[in-house]
Amino acid sequence: MKITRFLGLAALAGVLASGASASAQTAVKIGYALPNSSHYGAGANAFAAELERAAPGRFKVDQFPASALGGEREMIESVQLGTLDLVITSSGPVGNFVPDVAVTDIPFLFRDTAHARAVLDGPIGQDLLAKFPAKGLVALAWGEQGFRHLTNGRRTVQAPDDLKGLKLRTMENQVHMLAFRTLGANPTPMAWPEVVQGLQQGTIDGQENPISVIVSAKLSEVQKHLTLTRHVFSPALVIVSKDRFDGLKDADKAAFRAAGKAAAAAMRKFVDDVETKGVETLKGQGMQVVTAVDTAKFQAVLAPAYAEYAKRFGQAKIDAIRNYKP
Ligand code: PAF
Repeated sequence: MKITRFLGLAALAGVLASGASASAQTAVKIGYALPNSSHYGAGANAFAAELERAAPGRFKVDQFPASALGGEREMIESVQLGTLDLVITSSGPVGNFVPDVAVTDIPFLFRDTAHARAVLDGPIGQDLLAKFPAKGLVALAWGEQGFRHLTNGRRTVQAPDDLKGLKLRTMENQVHMLAFRTLGANPTPMAWPEVVQGLQQGTIDGQENPISVIVSAKLSEVQKHLTLTRHVFSPALVIVSKDRFDGLKDADKAAFRAAGKAAAAAMRKFVDDVETKGVETLKGQGMQVVTAVDTAKFQAVLAPAYAEYAKRFGQAKIDAIRNYKP
């Protein structure tokens, strides 16, 4: 069976639409940062399965897991340029491309998972998705990673004071960096592919990520302390190159959108499962776990950061998210 590169060749869509070469299959390259056994792998597998169901025999999905194609910022750039077709990514670097999306990265913005999913699936989240095409990207759906927590190799962290001076890797995300600076830590932005080595070599003391990532990246091998801070909800996105998406015929666009939704649903299911079992797994692997913190204390120290976020995003937008009811 003949396999062509995912469009770029607008002509291909026409040829396929006309039925002139019904056997030609179009290759779709999808990259993501974590192993195939992770929530991103679950999302990519579901994407491929749904695409095949909705557009039988038309596409062949080639997966590039575990940062094989670089860090998340690099992969988004590649999607923008059209040298990569799709990426499943955290929201971490996305605000550098679509600035409004960074509002979702504000600490303690979402009460719980149900609140986050309702906001992202509702008008606020869909309005954010509508901002991607102006940046050469099409965001198909909001997936997720779960709430982010803190790990470190130095000490037990229970309260904001315990963060003082800790060299913490953050994503390349201004909202997160401001939060950790305000909390007294020393935030060090770093692309994910460098993080495990940085923790091993001690160039950073800790990092923050959801249980889904801490388990799948085996961070218990390089970090002793885990604090379930739930300091920020971590959305994920399924993003496709706009040029490439625009070249699809309508039925294939619908298939891609359905596949994006299936990927998001699979990520959410994976996260639900790992959130219930993951902490016990990590304890079993020797991590010392602080299971809850006094959120109000963290929020109080973050007051100057919240004032900055209000300037950047508008208090009305932040309140609309906080108070959203479906
Ligand atoms: O911390 C990050 O950079 C992200 O959460 C990760 C691990 C790459 C998954 O998107």
